[in-house]
Amino acid sequence: MQTLNVKINSSEKSYPIIIKNNDIPELYSEILDITGKNNCLAVISQKVFQLFGNFLNLPKERIFILKDGEKEKNFKTYQKILDRALKLKLTRNDFIIAVGGGVCGDIAGFAAATYMRGIHLIQVPTTLLACVDSSVGGKTGIDTDYGKNLVGSFYQPDAVLINTNFLNSLDDRQFKTGLGEVIKYAFIEKSCKCEEDFNLINYLTLNADQILNRDAKTLEELIKICISLKISVVEKDEKEGNLRKILNFGHTYAHAIEQITRYKKYTHGEAVVKGIEFVFNMAYKMGLILESYKFVAEDLIKKYNFKQIPDFNINKVISAMKLDKKAHPDGIVFILPSDCAAVKEYKMVDNEILKYFG
Ligand code: GLY
Repeated sequence: MQTLNVKINSSEKSYPIIIKNNDIPELYSEILDITGKNNCLAVISQKVFQLFGNFLNLPKERIFILKDGEKEKNFKTYQKILDRALKLKLTRNDFIIAVGGGVCGDIAGFAAATYMRGIHLIQVPTTLLACVDSSVGGKTGIDTDYGKNLVGSFYQPDAVLINTNFLNSLDDRQFKTGLGEVIKYAFIEKSCKCEEDFNLINYLTLNADQILNRDAKTLEELIKICISLKISVVEKDEKEGNLRKILNFGHTYAHAIEQITRYKKYTHGEAVVKGIEFVFNMAYKMGLILESYKFVAEDLIKKYNFKQIPDFNINKVISAMKLDKKAHPDGIVFILPSDCAAVKEYKMVDNEILKYFG
């Protein structure tokens, strides 16, 4: 078991992230330890409910089953969650518990942030992606017809309870999409300004077989490393004014190709890996990094055998990048590798990008 603590400077809140690999049913008593006698509404992803639902010893009306898929992260479902909370007469002492992947954590988190101007929230991430990224750091939200995550808030939970046993239920593609975010942390480690030195590039290189075979102890350690890096960043910059932008490493290109392919063809992690390859090429062509470091990145990515994504027409990619909610009027923002495991922010206009990729 590992316990990490998050202390966000701008708020009074400090909360634990607990990583375990014990039996799933034990999770319920861990939840009760936090909620005490207060009431709760669990928002649980349908697939997780089918596989593990009986671990929540709650009456039917206190379980909101969320259909799977990004398209559920919408206003209508958000309203249904709020209606259920209202019907149950939840008060501000009560809890919403999000049990599922990123979609579940985001929408349930946003419901918790806005119900009665904020009630308690426990995140129970059940995918690797949610464990290492979306359940940590307080981003919550829903999608609109105009784009993803366009309505939301920063809202920190009371606790994040991670059980690596959930990860055995993921198919290979779902598991690997989480690894896309894991790889990202390896290349930004030094810029995260964490007191501890993990050498994640090395860890991922030496432990690839154990990670791909989902060895519980290795996964527990891996998740701890990624979360420690993310905590270090969000504690310093909760609202993404500055440092938190480094967590978007590989994401400028990834968001563009996800948007071009209507979020149907590639998983988020697959797109992030392609985005990481893109920024390594760009940084090398700009003379920011040595070819040997680019090879280190390529070798590490190869070890994990991600789905190959072809190159996209750069003009289409640039147009899509400009539509992104993080787009800047002075140019497109890239987080580029600048040194081993370190990154820097660059703003580039179309012609500069076309000079390297046109
Ligand atoms: N997923 C990036 C962040 O939490 O800032």
